[in-house]
Amino acid sequence: MKHLLKMLDLSTEEITEILDLADQLKYELKHGIPHPHLKGKTLGMIFQKASTRTRVSFETGMYQLGGYPLFLSSNDLQIGRGEPVQDTARVLSRYLSGIMIRTFDQKEVEDLAKYGNIPIINGLTDFCHPCQVLADLMTIREFKGKLEGLKMCFIGDGNNMANSLIVGGLKTGMSVSIACPKDYQPPKEILDFAAGYGDKFEMTDSPAQAAKDADVILTDVWASMGQEDEAEKRRKAFVGYQVNDELMKVAKSDAMVLHCLPAHREEEITEKVFEEHAKEIFEEAENRLHAQKAVMVKLMA
Ligand code: CP
Ligand code: NVA
Repeated sequence: MKHLLKMLDLSTEEITEILDLADQLKYELKHGIPHPHLKGKTLGMIFQKASTRTRVSFETGMYQLGGYPLFLSSNDLQIGRGEPVQDTARVLSRYLSGIMIRTFDQKEVEDLAKYGNIPIINGLTDFCHPCQVLADLMTIREFKGKLEGLKMCFIGDGNNMANSLIVGGLKTGMSVSIACPKDYQPPKEILDFAAGYGDKFEMTDSPAQAAKDADVILTDVWASMGQEDEAEKRRKAFVGYQVNDELMKVAKSDAMVLHCLPAHREEEITEKVFEEHAKEIFEEAENRLHAQKAVMVKLMA
C-alpha cells in the first residue's frame, strides 16, 4: 500500500490491517502509551473545501505520532491560482513526507500520486471519502464485534460517502443495501464493482426495503460541498429519504446509526434518531483520529 486514494484500491487484508492498527493506537492513546511512529516526519494538508473533523483529526493525529502537520489552504497555495498539480506534486515531494488532500476532482488526487513520490491520502473528493469509511468500519466492528455477515444500509444521495461505503462494506464481507432516488444513484464504476458481489448488493428507491433487517443504517447530507446551488432542488428530490422512527422500525431492533457529519437535522435524519444514536455517531467521529493515524503509520513510518 503506497497511497490511500480510494477504497477500490485496498484489499480486504489491507483494510483489516488498518482497522487492527487503529484499534491498537486507540488503546495506546487511552492508556497514555507513547507511539511516536512518525517522529521527524511532516504531513502537508491541502484543503480546497471546508473541514472540521478531517483537519483537526489529521493535525492532532500527526502530533500524537511525533510528526509535524502543515495546514495548506488552497487560498494561499499557488495551486489555488492555477499552478498545475503535476508541478505541485514534484515540489512538495521534496519537502514533505506525505500529503493529505481534500478537493473536488478525484483526478487531482490520483495525479498527485502519479507525479509525486510521497504517500498521498485522500481526505475527501466528490468521488469518495475513504478516511471516513475506514473510521465507520472501525466503529461498526467496535460496536458489533465483527463486520462479516452484517447488513449495512445507506439512505440518500449516491455520493462520495455512498460510493466508499459500498466498496468498504462489500470488501469486508457485509451485505450492502442502498436507497436513493433514481437521478441520484452512484456512478457506473461503483455499480460495476458492486455487481461482482451478486445478491450481497442491493440498490432500490425504497428506503424501507433497503433498511429491512439492517444492522447499521447510514446517511449523509442531501447536498454535498460544491452542490450548494442545487440545495433547494435536492431538498425536493430527497423527500422520503430520511432516517426517522418509521425507518428504524424495519431495521433490526439493535441497529446502529452512523453519520459522517455535519448532519442536517430534520432533513436526512431526525433530531430524535440522531440523539438516540449520538453515542455511536460521536464515537465514529472520534475514530477518524485513530483510523487516520493507522493509515499514516502504514504509509509513512
Ligand atoms: N466527516 C467529515 O469529513 O467532516 P469534515 O468535513 O468536518 O472534515
Ligand atoms: N458528502 C459530504 C460529506 C462531508 C463529510 C460532502 O461531500 O460534503
